[in-house]
Amino acid sequence: MSGGALAGRHVVVSAGPTYEDIDPVRFLGNRSSGKMGFAIAAAAAARAAPVTLISGPVTLPTPDTGSGSLHRIDVRSAAQMHAAVIGALPADIYIGAAAVADYTPARVAAEKIKKSSGSDGLTLQLVRTRDILADLAVHPHRPGLLVGFAAETEEVERHARGKLAAKQLDLIAANRVGVAGSGFESDDNALVIYGSGLALSLGPASKHELAAQLLELICQRMPAATRASDSTR
Ligand code: CTP
Repeated sequence: MSGGALAGRHVVVSAGPTYEDIDPVRFLGNRSSGKMGFAIAAAAAARAAPVTLISGPVTLPTPDTGSGSLHRIDVRSAAQMHAAVIGALPADIYIGAAAVADYTPARVAAEKIKKSSGSDGLTLQLVRTRDILADLAVHPHRPGLLVGFAAETEEVERHARGKLAAKQLDLIAANRVGVAGSGFESDDNALVIYGSGLALSLGPASKHELAAQLLELICQRMPAATRASDSTR
């Protein structure tokens, strides 16, 4: 496939969940499979974009890109994913498909936490993680195009447009989770892409088909700016 507007553009994609350790045997995670992010990374590499795929813990193989270039970085926690994304700059496009934890335990217990006989419950103190997209939006090497995802169980448009504005994104791909045939573990999905003056429904379709359609839209919205890959780091 010819690359078109994406050829030679550095695309950074985050995918999968993050795991926030509680103690040596337990963590807080979520149900993201990584399939959507991996499909986007594969589709971008097929369009001749050099791709950095930053993945949380998933069971997926690295996409076979043929002659394309794809560099995979595996991380575990939200803090590691944040550092890996910032470390991958400069980039022309960042697509945040990962389900990044919003909270992480304030302390990781050095030893396995034992049941205490005197109490029926356990209270974990959690602290906020840093928001990768929001930090990218104000970074000196802000990617030319920032794309977020919004997994919502209700009021999809209101929440997605709220995140679009709050995180200063160019596009946000919203999907409803918690319904059969779409969302985290499924091979299929349905997305609505919101942007300035844009509300575009894609699917239901396979995540590979949706990834191709999302990249087509991204190509149309690419700023005609100089490539980030041409700038000095
Ligand atoms: N995201 C991020 N860094 C975080 C949390 C989320 O970059 N620490 C990104 C995700 O990769 C996704 C977008 O923000 O592209 C929206 O994630 P989502 O979990 O739907 O929303 P939150 O902003 O976390 O808000 P809430 O959990 O309140 O819905």
